[in-house]
Amino acid sequence: MQRIVDWPARMKEVADFVGLDQAGLETIESTRDLVLSRGEEITADVYDHFLTFPETRRFFEDENGEVDDVRLERRKHSLLRFLTGSIGFKIDEDYPIRLLATGIVHSHPPSHRAHMGSVPSRFMVGSMSFLQTVLADLFQEELKDPREAHAASVAWNKLLMVQLDILQAGYINETPTEASERTPESE
Ligand code: HEM
Repeated sequence: MQRIVDWPARMKEVADFVGLDQAGLETIESTRDLVLSRGEEITADVYDHFLTFPETRRFFEDENGEVDDVRLERRKHSLLRFLTGSIGFKIDEDYPIRLLATGIVHSHPPSHRAHMGSVPSRFMVGSMSFLQTVLADLFQEELKDPREAHAASVAWNKLLMVQLDILQAGYINETPTEASERTPESE
């Protein structure tokens, strides 16, 4: 069975569906300095949260059950990279493929951590929700105009959901429709 997905088109479809438009992207861009100036704090919040739940903490433990600080620091940097990339979000050929690869790293553990299994997809959803809350709190605290804070939260919420769809695509086996299953050979 041949299954070809046009990832940029899929991303655009979801962006349109949630209403992430140019104005939303500009709003996100306007939060660049604030978000990046607090980037380390944001990622620390996310990872502190991961460490409070055994099911997420275990991904950052060494063989003695101690938190592996080196691994944790690397992961914080990965998340910061993801946040920085999010601010410059654009739907081109590369962006969704990089996201898809990131999703697959979580769903299909590389050999060095094969024993840990997949990061359960519910925690990818949970992480996005957690990030949305951290950002909404930040905008409420730091942006003087409440309408500006609201617009920033709304735009980021949409962006994170559009990205979550692709991150999750590495997890989900969808049943193809008859039409998408049809290949030139089968006709
Ligand atoms: C908002 C959701 C998340 C985002 C955006 C995210 C982002 C990333 C990125 C960008 C990388 C680097 C990928 C690479 O090197 O190619 C990474 C790696 C990793 N993440 Fe996440 N992550 C998320 C949630 C989680 C959760 C919930 C866990 C586990 C509790 C987790 C555990 C890991 C681990 C263990 C790696 C290293 C993969 C490896 O062994 O190579 N991540 N993450």
